[in-house]
Amino acid sequence: MNIQPSGSFTQQEENAAAIPSHAGMMLHMQDICKDFSSVSVLKNVQISLQKGEVLALMGENGAGKSTLMKILCGIHQPTAGTIKLDGNTVAPGNVSDAMQLGFILIHQELNLLDNLDIAGNLFLGREFRTRLGLLDKKKLYAEAEKALQQVGLNIDPHISVAELSIAQQQLVEIAKALSQNAKILVMDEPTSSLTLKETEQLFQTILQLKEQGVSIIYISHRLNEIIRIADRAVVLRDGKNSGELSKNELNHENLIRLMVGRDIQFNERSLTKFYGEPKVFRLEALRTSRFPDREVTMQIQSGEIVGISGLIGSGRTELAETIFGIRHAVGGTLSMNGHDIKILHPRHALDKGIFLVPEDRKKQGIFTEMSITENISMPNLSKYARASIINRQLEESAATGQVKAMNVKCNSPHDLLKNLSGGNQQKVAIAKWLAMQPAMIIFDEPTRGVDIGAKDEIYKMMRQLSNEGIIVMVISSDMEEIIRISDRVIVMCEGQITGELYPADYTEENIMALAVGNA
Ligand SMILES: Nc1ncnc2c1ncn2[C@@H]1O[C@H](COP(=O)(O)OP(=O)(O)OP(=O)(O)O)[C@@H](O)[C@H]1O
Ligand SMILES: [Mg+2]
Repeated sequence: MNIQPSGSFTQQEENAAAIPSHAGMMLHMQDICKDFSSVSVLKNVQISLQKGEVLALMGENGAGKSTLMKILCGIHQPTAGTIKLDGNTVAPGNVSDAMQLGFILIHQELNLLDNLDIAGNLFLGREFRTRLGLLDKKKLYAEAEKALQQVGLNIDPHISVAELSIAQQQLVEIAKALSQNAKILVMDEPTSSLTLKETEQLFQTILQLKEQGVSIIYISHRLNEIIRIADRAVVLRDGKNSGELSKNELNHENLIRLMVGRDIQFNERSLTKFYGEPKVFRLEALRTSRFPDREVTMQIQSGEIVGISGLIGSGRTELAETIFGIRHAVGGTLSMNGHDIKILHPRHALDKGIFLVPEDRKKQGIFTEMSITENISMPNLSKYARASIINRQLEESAATGQVKAMNVKCNSPHDLLKNLSGGNQQKVAIAKWLAMQPAMIIFDEPTRGVDIGAKDEIYKMMRQLSNEGIIVMVISSDMEEIIRISDRVIVMCEGQITGELYPADYTEENIMALAVGNA
């Protein structure tokens, strides 16, 4: 293990200590610094990469991983430092420069155009022409189909991306990058909304690319994935190199120590302690517009956290959106404590104290052009408003409290959300709903992109909600997460429930068997 020593080294010595000998490497990013206005986000960062290598880039939320990769791929310019490819200095001034060099970034935040179909997105700016110079649609759709097959997405490329789930959009982004002749492919949290099956497919693709000599820089907060797929890991902490692990040193303990700078104690799986009068939420023969001939019946009550597992497209998000009134149920009833409730609009759900923390935080969860404070206080404005004047001080102190509780990395609660790292945006999305007092809360992929320490905080907070008698339902594609937090797991496949498991039977195999409908 190579840990950067702290102490009274000169800058030069410190850098020398941080870089193991990487002679013969294809890519070197040397002494990369990046300041955003006066804030220094990367400080003399070094990484290097070999041909055909899978390098994991690790670090907590806000450590600087995405920023470093955006510099490599021409989106940001470094404040200082050099990039060398095969010994020659290169300076990608924009995305197309970087593409010419073969540096392709698959973004953490999805970047597809909603008004185009899948094929249009895949080959945007690279359209095929016939000999007469006309748009060659036949070729476009044929190539699009091929690209989709490579990531295992069996879907018509004529469909608009707006109709795809987040996971499907993520696969389209990956397919797009793969079709671009990458030399270095950067995957910034590619699996954050993929389930086991799609992740497996992605890993197969990565192995193939490796064989073809493509190098991959892989960013993920799922440590098991890193341990499996990476040849080496470089860890950043607070914008600096904190160390490096070779394949045989890759384990949870070493990764966490380098990321966090100390050993962290995880909260044990705890049980809810709720002794009050339970609230009971029930779905009876609910049918969603996506699967109109499948019925879902389930009951959840205070004192339990119910995890909903299943593959992409199994109908979990549709179920949540139907409960919350974003979609209209085709049939069936909802009830709370035996009383039927009608939810035709999210407003009705909010009135009943039913909240949804959505999967796509950008569309429904947060407003990136607004500040952290504004985001947290928004659904709750009436609480802070007196005689229609918003009490800024009250609003701010509540937001500051949440920012602290969730350990959001920012300079001040006035920071615009768009300037926070992906994981920190997610923490704000959750904090926003906690500022209200729900009867039931549905989390859809709550820890997408959240680092390991913050995940633990979120789990603790869910247990607290449960202890207070709030009904908690968690939809998650992260198997470790489902197993860790659920008191009961309900598995869905193609719009219906295929099984229910209790802790003694939680294994990935058992859940998978139900998820593919082979129970
Ligand atoms: N455009 C910007 N303006 C100001 N600050 C920024 C900007 N982009 C990023 N930052 C800051 O730089 C730091 C590093 O962010 P970055 O997105 O690189 O983190 P990350 O390691 O990718 O985190 P995550 O795991 O959450 O994705 C964060 O503190 C973030 O707030
Ligand atoms: Mg990031």
